[in-house]
Amino acid sequence: MHPLHTVNISLEERSYPIHIGSGLIDGADTFATLPGGHTALIVSNTTVAPLYADKLRAALQAKYSRVLLIELPDGESHKHWETLNLIFDVLLTHTADRKTTLFALGGGVVGDMTGFAAASYMRGVPFVQVPTTLLSQVDSSVGGKTGINHPLGKNMVGAFYQPQMVVCDLSTLTTLPQREVAAGLAEIIKYGPIADMEFLDWIELHIHKLVRLDGAALAHAVKRSCEIKAWVVGQDERESGLRAILNFGHTFGHAIEAGLGYGEWLHGEAVGCGMVMAATLSERLGLIDAAYVQRLKMLIAAAGLPTQGPRIDAADNAGRYLDLMRHDKKSEAGEIRFVLLDGPGRAVLRTASDAIVREVIDACC
Ligand code: NAD
Ligand code: GLY
Repeated sequence: MHPLHTVNISLEERSYPIHIGSGLIDGADTFATLPGGHTALIVSNTTVAPLYADKLRAALQAKYSRVLLIELPDGESHKHWETLNLIFDVLLTHTADRKTTLFALGGGVVGDMTGFAAASYMRGVPFVQVPTTLLSQVDSSVGGKTGINHPLGKNMVGAFYQPQMVVCDLSTLTTLPQREVAAGLAEIIKYGPIADMEFLDWIELHIHKLVRLDGAALAHAVKRSCEIKAWVVGQDERESGLRAILNFGHTFGHAIEAGLGYGEWLHGEAVGCGMVMAATLSERLGLIDAAYVQRLKMLIAAAGLPTQGPRIDAADNAGRYLDLMRHDKKSEAGEIRFVLLDGPGRAVLRTASDAIVREVIDACC
């Protein structure tokens, strides 16, 4: 099988291709350019492995003499040390050497954990991302952020570690629940306002096709999203500046996820609503006009995402949002730094007074 599109991520010796197409995980030639080795380990979960692990295993058997599989428990609540250790247990029990390649088959949870396991097993072994959710195909599998959650914070323990290749097989998305499709659309929509207004126009025109997983629309959306992410990561791999724009909507979104308890709202749902809140804050600060905020809100609603923030504290809702946002990784000395829009296709990092943020939260929840 040949990919419909290949997007390259340029990071000198850490550069790699992102292949996008249908039926890619079955194709032995998809993986032909990977470094060889004796052992491959497919890391998946109890939901995705029964659907796709046999296909991937069949393709990998042409290249590796031993293909192992581990099925992790499914869900964000399992993205922690104990689950990570299950991957090391399999590798060590089977005396996997440092040429062993790990294949992450699943959504962002599996991808983030597999990447972190690859970064740390024997101080680093190769790994490949085979993302099977829309969110992971357009965001989490690209760019090398890997890690796990700590009880005191999401994604707080991890490493920047780039994969050898990303394989976005669009045909795997047919089994994805509709709510997960909408969550992925949030991350696709994000790329428009932060980087590419033509893409935003295109998404508006094709949103109903994307919701239905129309093949041609999906292929274009995944390709353009990966191109924009590759462009950003290529300039700022370790988020010393520009890469923070990829977190548009995430500061409010993380507060929603943490405030409600992880798993109540999906990450993409919280980001969708968080984008409305961040756009509203941008408007209050005079950076963009109300019509632009309304335009984004309508698109986010058309994707099937919530646009009104939940109340996360009965007594002091805005105060609870502010407390949670101070723990954001972008905060410095307790000061929250928001990704805001300062014009069409442009995002900036800015602070705002608590009083204005409170007004925005009250207006949006
Ligand atoms: P997920 O990995 O939990 O997957 C969502 C659900 O869909 C799971 O139940 C999963 O088993 C199931 N699933 C996956 N593929 C399927 C398929 N093809 N058919 C049927 N079911 C399928 O969630 P996600 O939205 O993919 O990823 C969210 C995670 O990604 C979070 O942990 C977040 O922190 C992380 N993330 C990381 C980055 C990064 O840059 N590394 C970026 C964004 C998000
Ligand atoms: N999802 C944000 C990033 O990769 O930086």
